[in-house]
Amino acid sequence: MVPRDLIDAALMAQKHAYAPYSRFAVGAALRDERNRIHAGCNVENAAFPEAICAEAAALAAMIVAGGRRCVEVAVVAVGDRPVTPCGGCRQKLREFGADDMIILLCDAAGEPRRTFRLGDLLPYSFGPENLA
Ligand code: THU
Repeated sequence: MVPRDLIDAALMAQKHAYAPYSRFAVGAALRDERNRIHAGCNVENAAFPEAICAEAAALAAMIVAGGRRCVEVAVVAVGDRPVTPCGGCRQKLREFGADDMIILLCDAAGEPRRTFRLGDLLPYSFGPENLA
């Protein structure tokens, strides 16, 4: 079943993307352990490496709202090619979820194109358990 609520939240967030340098607007929305949705968009900076990815912004929104686990994420971007979370975002997602986290990649129209598990995108990952 397509999680329309999650995808719509990602599309809404994407509308607010601040991406004047790359012109590559990204929206992400995630579902937490209480079935609440948190969204984020990318936020760029004139000092280019300082950009915040949409996934990281959504995670920050989840933490601010008191969420601690992420079970599902939807990502929307511009263009034809669905965007997979960058390496840094995969690790950030890993902090708040496990291999079975669902990652849904959508096209610019919000249609689901690919579904992964976090474990597919970040196998043999390092996480909080390793420090326990
Ligand atoms: N970006 C994201 O927000 N999420 C991703 O998973 C990939 C890349 C952003 C960062 C930057 O603002 C723009 O896309 C181009 O890299």
